[in-house]
Amino acid sequence: MRAVLSRLLATKRSVRIAKSWLMTHPRALWGYRGLRLRIQARRWSRKDKESAIALERWFERQSAHRRKLPGTDLAYLEMVRRHAADGFTPYMVLPLFSYALLLRPERIVELGCSYTYYPETYRRADPWVVSDAMSEGLVSTRLLLAACRFLDAHGVRVTLTSVDLRTADHPLFARNEALLRDLGLAAWWQPAMGVDSVSWLREEEERIRAGSAKLIDLAFVDSNHTYAHVRAELEALRRIMAGRGVMLIDNCYALTYEPGVDSMPGDGAKGISHGGEYGAILDFVGAHPEWSVEWDGSDLAVLKRDGELVPNVSSPESAPPPRLRPPV
Ligand SMILES: C[S@@+](CC[C@H](N)C(=O)[O-])C[C@H]1O[C@@H](n2cnc3c(N)ncnc32)[C@H](O)[C@@H]1O
Repeated sequence: MRAVLSRLLATKRSVRIAKSWLMTHPRALWGYRGLRLRIQARRWSRKDKESAIALERWFERQSAHRRKLPGTDLAYLEMVRRHAADGFTPYMVLPLFSYALLLRPERIVELGCSYTYYPETYRRADPWVVSDAMSEGLVSTRLLLAACRFLDAHGVRVTLTSVDLRTADHPLFARNEALLRDLGLAAWWQPAMGVDSVSWLREEEERIRAGSAKLIDLAFVDSNHTYAHVRAELEALRRIMAGRGVMLIDNCYALTYEPGVDSMPGDGAKGISHGGEYGAILDFVGAHPEWSVEWDGSDLAVLKRDGELVPNVSSPESAPPPRLRPPV
């Protein structure tokens, strides 16, 4: 009896696992939904043949329609959900992903992307899960790239440039490439490695002036968290942000970042006396009143120009032109 019971329970559990797998794998989802509908149609056909035929016909039509739709890959949403639920920096997950979608940017830049340990520290070497390592990098990168993938599927030609002091000839950089390849996100990534973010921003200003680069729509600031560095980054960014550009600043309350982290010296007494990263943001908005800051109590601050970021529904004339392709 016990053996039968435990067998039954094991089967129930496998069914549950299989079902949850089916639900999170979009291609299988068609199969799972389809199977349920077919079973339903068969039951109906015994009682009501006409309804069963109509159901089958509409199901086929809907399937054909949904196959044509771009960007319905649920695996990326599931990855975002996992990072929001189980990641080490949950507060930044939804703002990063949703600002990137909301702004419909063509150019995203992140300052500080770091390296990943992938496939080490990933359960079953699965790139979709959250790494067990607290110092794992490329988190913001994959979230922003997931948004790029969605935007691209809807006609927005967007790229993410990641700027970092860390170099591309380090063995861990190959892991960055492997992770993004295995997640299907490499196509939108433009790494600029081995360069100081402030120097890169100044050089980028020259490239923009020369017409060889575009203004930045969304910037994520997460490199060296000292007062002087963040202040310099915001100054340099301000000059090359698009009109509706938004800057997201991580670790905005950092007075001293973890001491001893390589590539990231902590703030000295002078920086701390200015309030560290928090002070840098306050001084920036003080010097440039056209920029305002939104704090939500988490470690992420949002800087936007001239107040209005998302156009109010009651003032549609201020909305940016739609970039979505009309539905087919
Ligand atoms: C906190 S990590 C970035 C984490 C990443 N955004 C994420 O979500 O996984 C900070 C990164 O900034 C880089 N960094 C530090 N100082 C820098 C500088 N002056 N210029 C460019 N990158 C810098 C470090 O090399 C490190 O990889």
